[in-house]
Amino acid sequence: MSDDIHNRKKSHIEIASSERGRFARTTTLLDEVTLVHQGLPELSLDEIDTSIELFGRRLSAPLMIGAMTGGTNEAARINKDLAGLASSLGIGFCLGSQRIMVERPETESSFQVRDVAPNALIVGNIGVVQARAMDPVQVSRLVDAVGADAMAVHVNPAHELIQADGDRDFRGCVDTTGELASILPVPVIVKETGCGLSRQAAEALVGRGVLHVEVGGAGGTSWVKVEKERQTAQGKHTEKIGDVLGEWGIPTAASLSLLSDLPLTMIAGGGIRDGLDMARAVSLGATACAVAQPVLAAYRDGGVAGVRSLLEEMIGAFRAICLLTGSANSGALRDATRIIGPNLERWRLQGR
Ligand SMILES: Cc1cc2nc3c(=O)[nH]c(=O)nc-3n(C[C@H](O)[C@H](O)[C@H](O)COP(=O)(O)O)c2cc1C
Repeated sequence: MSDDIHNRKKSHIEIASSERGRFARTTTLLDEVTLVHQGLPELSLDEIDTSIELFGRRLSAPLMIGAMTGGTNEAARINKDLAGLASSLGIGFCLGSQRIMVERPETESSFQVRDVAPNALIVGNIGVVQARAMDPVQVSRLVDAVGADAMAVHVNPAHELIQADGDRDFRGCVDTTGELASILPVPVIVKETGCGLSRQAAEALVGRGVLHVEVGGAGGTSWVKVEKERQTAQGKHTEKIGDVLGEWGIPTAASLSLLSDLPLTMIAGGGIRDGLDMARAVSLGATACAVAQPVLAAYRDGGVAGVRSLLEEMIGAFRAICLLTGSANSGALRDATRIIGPNLERWRLQGR
Protein backbone atom coordinates (compact mmCIF):
# COMPACT_ATOMS: atom_id res chain seq x y z
CA MET A 1 0.00 0.00 0.00
CA SER A 2 2.67 2.50 0.99
CA ASP A 3 4.76 1.58 -2.06
CA ASP A 4 1.68 2.40 -4.11
CA ILE A 5 1.51 5.84 -2.49
CA HIS A 6 5.21 6.31 -3.17
CA ASN A 7 4.89 5.56 -6.90
CA ARG A 8 1.65 7.47 -7.22
CA LYS A 9 3.27 10.61 -5.78
CA LYS A 10 6.20 10.33 -8.16
CA SER A 11 3.96 10.06 -11.21
CA HIS A 12 1.66 12.84 -9.96
CA ILE A 13 4.67 15.16 -9.92
CA GLU A 14 5.72 14.10 -13.43
CA ILE A 15 2.24 14.45 -14.95
CA ALA A 16 1.21 17.61 -13.13
CA SER A 17 4.45 19.43 -13.92
CA SER A 18 4.06 18.47 -17.61
CA GLU A 19 0.71 20.30 -17.80
CA ARG A 20 -1.13 17.30 -19.22
CA GLY A 21 -3.48 17.52 -16.27
CA ARG A 22 -5.02 20.91 -16.95
CA PHE A 23 -8.63 21.89 -17.41
CA ALA A 24 -9.16 22.63 -21.12
CA ARG A 25 -12.67 24.14 -21.36
CA THR A 26 -13.48 25.00 -17.75
CA THR A 27 -11.80 28.26 -16.74
CA THR A 28 -11.37 29.90 -13.33
CA LEU A 29 -13.78 32.67 -14.47
CA LEU A 30 -11.32 35.15 -12.94
CA ASP A 31 -11.28 36.83 -16.34
CA GLU A 32 -14.91 37.80 -15.68
CA VAL A 33 -13.61 40.25 -13.08
CA THR A 34 -12.51 43.51 -14.69
CA LEU A 35 -10.74 45.80 -12.26
CA VAL A 36 -11.34 49.38 -13.29
CA HIS A 37 -8.21 51.38 -14.17
CA GLN A 38 -7.50 54.55 -12.19
CA GLY A 39 -5.46 57.06 -14.18
CA LEU A 40 -5.01 59.32 -11.16
CA PRO A 41 -4.32 56.89 -8.34
CA GLU A 42 -2.52 59.42 -6.05
CA LEU A 43 -0.26 56.60 -4.77
CA SER A 44 3.44 55.81 -4.92
CA LEU A 45 4.41 52.27 -5.98
CA ASP A 46 7.00 51.99 -3.21
CA GLU A 47 4.43 52.76 -0.58
CA ILE A 48 1.89 50.15 -1.62
CA ASP A 49 1.62 47.73 1.28
CA THR A 50 1.07 44.26 -0.20
CA SER A 51 1.72 42.51 3.12
CA ILE A 52 -0.93 40.59 5.02
CA GLU A 53 -1.24 38.79 8.35
CA LEU A 54 -2.21 35.11 8.07
CA PHE A 55 -2.29 32.45 10.79
CA GLY A 56 0.00 34.47 13.05
CA ARG A 57 2.64 35.21 10.38
CA ARG A 58 3.21 38.32 8.30
CA LEU A 59 3.51 37.64 4.56
CA SER A 60 5.13 40.13 2.19
CA ALA A 61 2.30 39.51 -0.29
CA PRO A 62 -0.94 37.48 -0.23
CA LEU A 63 0.73 34.43 -1.74
CA MET A 64 1.57 30.85 -0.78
CA ILE A 65 3.19 27.96 -2.61
CA GLY A 66 0.32 25.44 -2.75
CA ALA A 67 0.33 21.95 -1.25
CA MET A 68 2.14 19.44 -3.42
CA THR A 69 4.49 16.93 -2.04
CA GLY A 70 6.41 14.94 0.56
CA GLY A 71 7.36 11.36 1.25
CA THR A 72 10.08 10.62 -1.32
CA ASN A 73 13.71 11.71 -1.66
CA GLU A 74 12.79 13.88 -4.62
CA ALA A 75 9.92 15.39 -2.62
CA ALA A 76 12.26 16.11 0.29
CA ARG A 77 14.53 18.10 -2.01
CA ILE A 78 11.59 19.96 -3.59
CA ASN A 79 10.08 20.78 -0.18
CA LYS A 80 13.36 22.12 1.21
CA ASP A 81 14.12 24.15 -1.91
CA LEU A 82 10.63 25.65 -2.15
CA ALA A 83 10.23 26.30 1.58
CA GLY A 84 13.62 28.06 1.67
CA LEU A 85 12.56 30.19 -1.28
CA ALA A 86 9.17 30.97 0.31
CA SER A 87 11.00 32.06 3.44
CA SER A 88 13.32 34.39 1.55
CA LEU A 89 10.39 35.91 -0.38
CA GLY A 90 8.29 36.22 2.78
CA ILE A 91 5.40 34.12 1.44
CA GLY A 92 3.72 30.96 2.75
CA PHE A 93 4.57 27.33 2.01
CA CYS A 94 2.13 24.41 2.07
CA LEU A 95 3.33 20.83 2.49
CA GLY A 96 1.78 17.97 0.51
CA SER A 97 -0.32 15.25 2.14
CA GLN A 98 1.32 13.87 5.28
CA ARG A 99 -0.58 10.59 4.96
CA ILE A 100 2.60 8.75 4.02
CA MET A 101 4.14 9.91 7.33
CA VAL A 102 1.47 7.95 9.16
CA GLU A 103 2.12 4.78 7.18
CA ARG A 104 5.90 5.17 6.91
CA PRO A 105 7.25 7.25 9.79
CA GLU A 106 10.73 7.16 8.23
CA THR A 107 9.47 9.60 5.57
CA GLU A 108 8.95 12.33 8.19
CA SER A 109 12.18 14.12 7.35
CA SER A 110 10.93 14.77 3.79
CA PHE A 111 8.29 17.09 5.33
CA GLN A 112 10.60 18.90 7.71
CA VAL A 113 11.40 22.35 6.38
CA ARG A 114 11.59 24.45 9.54
CA ASP A 115 15.39 24.40 9.41
CA VAL A 116 15.32 26.29 6.09
CA ALA A 117 12.22 28.37 6.86
CA PRO A 118 12.29 29.15 10.59
CA ASN A 119 9.88 32.09 10.42
CA ALA A 120 7.81 31.28 7.33
CA LEU A 121 4.12 30.40 7.33
CA ILE A 122 4.10 26.60 7.01
CA VAL A 123 0.85 24.70 6.42
CA GLY A 124 0.55 20.95 7.07
CA ASN A 125 -1.77 18.68 5.06
CA ILE A 126 -3.89 15.55 5.48
CA GLY A 127 -6.85 14.10 3.55
CA VAL A 128 -10.21 14.28 5.30
CA VAL A 129 -10.84 10.56 4.71
CA GLN A 130 -7.53 9.65 6.35
CA ALA A 131 -8.20 12.10 9.20
CA ARG A 132 -11.63 10.52 9.73
CA ALA A 133 -9.93 7.21 10.48
CA MET A 134 -7.39 8.78 12.84
CA ASP A 135 -7.54 9.89 16.43
CA PRO A 136 -7.34 13.73 16.39
CA VAL A 137 -4.31 13.39 18.66
CA GLN A 138 -2.51 11.62 15.80
CA VAL A 139 -3.36 14.50 13.46
CA SER A 140 -2.06 16.87 16.11
CA ARG A 141 1.23 14.97 16.07
CA LEU A 142 1.50 15.57 12.31
CA VAL A 143 1.21 19.30 13.02
CA ASP A 144 3.87 19.19 15.74
CA ALA A 145 6.27 17.02 13.73
CA VAL A 146 6.62 19.67 11.04
CA GLY A 147 6.08 22.79 13.17
CA ALA A 148 3.06 23.83 11.09
CA ASP A 149 1.26 27.12 11.73
CA ALA A 150 -1.99 25.75 10.28
CA MET A 151 -3.32 22.39 9.07
CA ALA A 152 -5.00 21.93 5.70
CA VAL A 153 -7.53 19.11 5.54
CA HIS A 154 -8.05 18.32 1.88
CA VAL A 155 -11.30 17.10 0.36
CA ASN A 156 -11.07 15.54 -3.09
CA PRO A 157 -14.00 13.20 -3.78
CA ALA A 158 -13.79 13.51 -7.60
CA HIS A 159 -10.11 12.60 -7.59
CA GLU A 160 -10.78 9.61 -5.31
CA LEU A 161 -13.58 8.31 -7.53
CA ILE A 162 -11.26 8.22 -10.54
CA GLN A 163 -8.66 6.11 -8.75
CA ALA A 164 -9.26 2.38 -9.07
CA ASP A 165 -8.36 1.97 -5.38
CA GLY A 166 -9.60 5.40 -4.25
CA ASP A 167 -12.08 6.09 -1.48
CA ARG A 168 -15.78 5.67 -2.16
CA ASP A 169 -17.32 6.50 1.20
CA PHE A 170 -17.30 10.16 2.21
CA ARG A 171 -19.80 9.97 5.08
CA GLY A 172 -18.85 11.65 8.33
CA CYS A 173 -16.27 13.96 6.75
CA VAL A 174 -18.07 17.15 7.77
CA ASP A 175 -18.02 16.04 11.40
CA THR A 176 -14.31 15.21 11.06
CA THR A 177 -13.49 18.75 9.94
CA GLY A 178 -15.46 20.20 12.87
CA GLU A 179 -13.77 17.89 15.36
CA LEU A 180 -10.33 18.84 14.06
CA ALA A 181 -11.19 22.55 14.08
CA SER A 182 -12.10 22.32 17.75
CA ILE A 183 -9.22 20.07 18.85
CA LEU A 184 -6.11 20.95 16.84
CA PRO A 185 -3.78 23.52 18.39
CA VAL A 186 -3.53 25.44 15.08
CA PRO A 187 -6.13 26.79 12.62
CA VAL A 188 -7.72 24.20 10.31
CA ILE A 189 -8.13 25.05 6.62
CA VAL A 190 -10.56 22.86 4.67
CA LYS A 191 -9.18 22.68 1.15
CA GLU A 192 -10.53 21.44 -2.18
CA THR A 193 -7.94 20.37 -4.71
CA GLY A 194 -9.41 21.70 -7.97
CA CYS A 195 -13.19 21.12 -7.97
CA GLY A 196 -14.09 24.10 -5.78
CA LEU A 197 -16.22 24.50 -2.66
CA SER A 198 -19.94 25.11 -3.04
CA ARG A 199 -22.06 27.37 -0.85
CA GLN A 200 -23.67 24.27 0.69
CA ALA A 201 -20.34 22.67 1.56
CA ALA A 202 -19.08 25.93 3.06
CA GLU A 203 -22.25 26.43 5.12
CA ALA A 204 -21.85 22.91 6.51
CA LEU A 205 -18.26 23.77 7.50
CA VAL A 206 -19.29 27.05 9.12
CA GLY A 207 -21.95 25.12 11.05
CA ARG A 208 -19.20 22.88 12.48
CA GLY A 209 -16.97 25.77 13.53
CA VAL A 210 -14.52 25.70 10.61
CA LEU A 211 -13.18 29.22 10.02
CA HIS A 212 -10.80 28.86 7.07
CA VAL A 213 -11.04 27.39 3.56
CA GLU A 214 -8.94 27.12 0.44
CA VAL A 215 -11.53 27.04 -2.33
CA GLY A 216 -9.31 25.02 -4.70
CA GLY A 217 -11.54 25.74 -7.67
CA ALA A 218 -11.62 24.52 -11.27
CA GLY A 219 -9.65 26.14 -14.07
CA GLY A 220 -6.07 25.13 -13.22
CA THR A 221 -4.96 21.59 -12.43
CA SER A 222 -7.63 18.92 -13.00
CA TRP A 223 -6.90 15.98 -10.73
CA VAL A 224 -9.30 13.83 -12.67
CA LYS A 225 -7.11 14.38 -15.74
CA VAL A 226 -3.86 13.85 -13.83
CA GLU A 227 -5.17 10.55 -12.50
CA LYS A 228 -6.49 9.46 -15.89
CA GLU A 229 -3.09 10.21 -17.45
CA ARG A 230 -1.37 8.21 -14.74
CA GLN A 231 -3.55 5.17 -15.30
CA THR A 232 -3.14 5.40 -19.06
CA ALA A 233 0.65 5.68 -18.71
CA GLN A 234 0.60 2.51 -16.62
CA GLY A 235 -1.31 0.72 -19.35
CA LYS A 236 -4.28 0.32 -17.02
CA HIS A 237 -7.80 0.35 -18.25
CA THR A 238 -8.95 3.94 -17.91
CA GLU A 239 -12.36 4.30 -16.42
CA LYS A 240 -14.80 6.03 -18.74
CA ILE A 241 -15.67 8.29 -15.81
CA GLY A 242 -12.25 9.92 -16.24
CA ASP A 243 -13.36 11.30 -19.63
CA VAL A 244 -16.74 12.38 -18.34
CA LEU A 245 -15.43 14.22 -15.28
CA GLY A 246 -12.25 15.77 -16.69
CA GLU A 247 -13.80 19.24 -16.73
CA TRP A 248 -15.86 18.82 -13.54
CA GLY A 249 -15.86 21.49 -10.86
CA ILE A 250 -16.80 24.96 -9.66
CA PRO A 251 -14.57 27.67 -11.18
CA THR A 252 -12.30 29.36 -8.65
CA ALA A 253 -13.89 32.81 -9.07
CA ALA A 254 -17.37 31.29 -8.72
CA SER A 255 -16.42 29.52 -5.51
CA LEU A 256 -14.98 32.74 -4.04
CA SER A 257 -18.13 34.66 -5.01
CA LEU A 258 -20.44 32.03 -3.56
CA LEU A 259 -18.66 32.06 -0.20
CA SER A 260 -17.79 35.74 0.06
CA ASP A 261 -20.38 36.71 2.70
CA LEU A 262 -19.75 33.71 4.97
CA PRO A 263 -17.61 34.11 8.12
CA LEU A 264 -14.61 32.37 6.56
CA THR A 265 -11.02 33.30 5.76
CA MET A 266 -10.78 32.37 2.08
CA ILE A 267 -7.62 31.33 0.29
CA ALA A 268 -7.93 31.31 -3.49
CA GLY A 269 -6.44 28.21 -5.10
CA GLY A 270 -6.89 26.52 -8.47
CA GLY A 271 -5.62 28.22 -11.62
CA ILE A 272 -3.96 31.24 -9.99
CA ARG A 273 -1.31 32.00 -12.61
CA ASP A 274 -0.23 35.64 -12.39
CA GLY A 275 -0.50 38.86 -10.42
CA LEU A 276 -3.75 39.77 -12.17
CA ASP A 277 -5.35 36.48 -11.05
CA MET A 278 -4.14 37.28 -7.54
CA ALA A 279 -5.63 40.78 -7.60
CA ARG A 280 -8.93 39.55 -9.03
CA ALA A 281 -9.16 36.81 -6.38
CA VAL A 282 -8.37 39.24 -3.56
CA SER A 283 -10.99 41.66 -4.91
CA LEU A 284 -13.53 38.80 -4.64
CA GLY A 285 -12.71 38.37 -0.95
CA ALA A 286 -9.68 36.07 -0.82
CA THR A 287 -7.18 36.90 1.92
CA ALA A 288 -4.38 35.10 0.07
CA CYS A 289 -3.75 32.97 -3.02
CA ALA A 290 -2.08 29.57 -3.40
CA VAL A 291 -0.29 28.55 -6.58
CA ALA A 292 0.70 24.93 -7.14
CA GLN A 293 1.33 23.50 -10.64
CA PRO A 294 3.15 26.53 -12.16
CA VAL A 295 5.63 26.39 -9.27
CA LEU A 296 6.40 22.77 -10.03
CA ALA A 297 6.74 23.46 -13.76
CA ALA A 298 9.07 26.41 -13.11
CA TYR A 299 11.11 24.25 -10.74
CA ARG A 300 11.43 21.52 -13.36
CA ASP A 301 12.51 24.01 -16.03
CA GLY A 302 14.65 26.44 -14.04
CA GLY A 303 15.16 25.15 -10.51
CA VAL A 304 14.83 27.50 -7.54
CA ALA A 305 15.86 30.49 -9.67
CA GLY A 306 13.03 29.70 -12.10
CA VAL A 307 10.46 29.60 -9.31
CA ARG A 308 11.88 32.79 -7.81
CA SER A 309 11.37 34.68 -11.10
CA LEU A 310 7.83 33.34 -11.44
CA LEU A 311 6.84 34.37 -7.92
CA GLU A 312 8.64 37.74 -8.04
CA GLU A 313 6.83 38.52 -11.30
CA MET A 314 3.50 37.60 -9.72
CA ILE A 315 4.14 39.78 -6.68
CA GLY A 316 5.43 42.66 -8.84
CA ALA A 317 2.35 42.59 -11.06
CA PHE A 318 0.09 42.36 -8.03
CA ARG A 319 1.73 45.47 -6.57
CA ALA A 320 1.32 47.31 -9.89
CA ILE A 321 -2.37 46.39 -10.04
CA CYS A 322 -2.88 47.67 -6.50
CA LEU A 323 -1.55 51.02 -7.69
CA LEU A 324 -3.56 51.01 -10.92
CA THR A 325 -6.80 50.35 -9.03
CA GLY A 326 -6.05 53.03 -6.44
CA SER A 327 -5.57 50.41 -3.69
CA ALA A 328 -2.99 51.44 -1.06
CA ASN A 329 -2.83 47.88 0.28
CA SER A 330 -4.02 44.33 -0.39
CA GLY A 331 -7.14 44.73 1.72
CA ALA A 332 -8.17 47.87 -0.19
CA LEU A 333 -8.50 45.77 -3.36
CA ARG A 334 -11.79 44.48 -1.99
CA ASP A 335 -13.21 47.97 -2.40
CA ALA A 336 -11.68 48.54 -5.84
CA THR A 337 -14.22 49.35 -8.54
CA ARG A 338 -14.83 46.31 -10.73
CA ILE A 339 -17.17 44.94 -13.34
CA ILE A 340 -18.39 41.37 -13.07
CA GLY A 341 -19.10 39.50 -16.30
CA PRO A 342 -22.34 37.58 -16.93
CA ASN A 343 -20.94 34.06 -16.48
CA LEU A 344 -19.65 34.82 -13.00
CA GLU A 345 -22.79 36.77 -12.16
CA ARG A 346 -24.87 33.70 -13.08
CA TRP A 347 -22.96 31.64 -10.53
CA ARG A 348 -23.48 34.31 -7.91
CA LEU A 349 -27.20 34.43 -8.46
CA GLN A 350 -27.96 30.76 -8.99
CA GLY A 351 -25.23 28.84 -7.18
CA ARG A 352 -26.52 29.46 -3.66
C1 LIG B 1 1.98 17.55 -8.06
C2 LIG B 1 0.86 18.03 -7.20
C3 LIG B 1 0.61 17.38 -5.99
C4 LIG B 1 -0.43 17.80 -5.15
N1 LIG B 1 -0.60 17.19 -3.94
C5 LIG B 1 -1.52 17.69 -3.06
C6 LIG B 1 -1.60 17.19 -1.73
O1 LIG B 1 -0.86 16.30 -1.33
N2 LIG B 1 -2.54 17.73 -0.90
C7 LIG B 1 -3.38 18.73 -1.32
O2 LIG B 1 -4.20 19.21 -0.53
N3 LIG B 1 -3.32 19.21 -2.58
C8 LIG B 1 -2.42 18.73 -3.44
N4 LIG B 1 -2.33 19.24 -4.72
C9 LIG B 1 -3.36 20.20 -5.16
C10 LIG B 1 -2.89 21.64 -5.13
O3 LIG B 1 -2.53 22.06 -3.83
C11 LIG B 1 -3.96 22.58 -5.71
O4 LIG B 1 -5.09 22.59 -4.88
C12 LIG B 1 -4.41 22.20 -7.11
O5 LIG B 1 -3.33 21.67 -7.88
C13 LIG B 1 -4.97 23.40 -7.87
O6 LIG B 1 -4.01 24.43 -7.96
P1 LIG B 1 -3.16 24.75 -9.30
O7 LIG B 1 -4.16 24.95 -10.40
O8 LIG B 1 -2.38 25.98 -8.95
O9 LIG B 1 -2.28 23.56 -9.56
C14 LIG B 1 -1.27 18.86 -5.56
C15 LIG B 1 -1.01 19.51 -6.77
C16 LIG B 1 0.04 19.13 -7.58
C17 LIG B 1 0.27 19.87 -8.87
